[in-house]
Amino acid sequence: MITTVQQHILQQQQEISEATGRFSWLLSGITLATKMVEAKIRTAGLTDVLGVMGQTNVQGEQQQKLDVYANQALLHCLGLRDSVAALVSEEDEEPVTFNRSVETGKYIIVFDPLDGSSNIDVNVNVGTIFSVLRRLPSDHSSDLQASILQPGYTQVAAGYVVYGPSTVLVYTTGHGVHGFTLDPTIGAFVLTSENMKMPEQGGYYSVNEANAATWPDEYREYVGKLRSGALGRQYSSRYIGSLVADFHRTLLKGGVFLYPPTKDQPGGKLRLLYEANPLAFIAEQAGGMASSGQTRILDIKPEGIHQRTPFIVGSKREMQALLDGRAK
Ligand code: AHG
Ligand code: MN
Ligand code: MN
Repeated sequence: MITTVQQHILQQQQEISEATGRFSWLLSGITLATKMVEAKIRTAGLTDVLGVMGQTNVQGEQQQKLDVYANQALLHCLGLRDSVAALVSEEDEEPVTFNRSVETGKYIIVFDPLDGSSNIDVNVNVGTIFSVLRRLPSDHSSDLQASILQPGYTQVAAGYVVYGPSTVLVYTTGHGVHGFTLDPTIGAFVLTSENMKMPEQGGYYSVNEANAATWPDEYREYVGKLRSGALGRQYSSRYIGSLVADFHRTLLKGGVFLYPPTKDQPGGKLRLLYEANPLAFIAEQAGGMASSGQTRILDIKPEGIHQRTPFIVGSKREMQALLDGRAK
């Protein structure tokens, strides 16, 4: 018997009293958009091969097109849901607001429409990341800044889709982490992993070592510890360069992903609202941890919608080894 993501969300709603049918209608906008992106990415792969002749501008256009396409798909599908008060996208400088009343426009959706887009032109996994916030009942403003700049622990839901050999959706509403695989024969995301748990310790560490020279010392020492077996086991290094894919492996296999501060990005490269927060919510729900190196990601009070943060996420064992003696 299959369970689609719609059925699963509705079942969740029975448990989550305050959620309503509106919530599942909202999330169905996300799943529809990601199915449109998935179809385009498959085609892009094909065109990409065909595009070898005119490769630079086709690929450049292709990549650019896919970022924009994914953004348009999400804006279109979600904009039609009247429970959406605002949409915040990595691709748009300003939020898209819909002038809906507090009674109707209850949710804000923040998203990275296409994560890892530098990997599209080499046919490597990419993803979509989303985070759902509840509009503050007192927020009657037009720009909804107060409702958008809420710390990550206020998220109502978070999830991602990784477009790989199969297309997998992982989401949480704060009641465990659940994974679905797109069945292309019926065009539905079907439940394949309920209550996913991140292993207490894993076998991989994941970081762009090209930046090692400009990390703060503690990160070089930490990666040195992982390499030296100081955590009681041998590690292997894996870095795909698409956050969603590197995170998904960390969720399944354990270990740690890190993007520390660098000389070029002293505040970190990854974005708080639509990369770190949603993945931190999922990591914690699966028994892992997520930190900026100074503080728990979900406790950070955002100052701006495109704010960046150092991002370290993974299994308890590896995270404690980094954070021992420091604010969690
Ligand atoms: P995006 O494609 O949405 O801009 O995200 C790219 C991010 C993230 O996916 C990945 O972890 C990181 O960039 C890789 O950065 P480096 O190439 O600097 O390692
Ligand atoms: Mn991204
Ligand atoms: Mn992106």
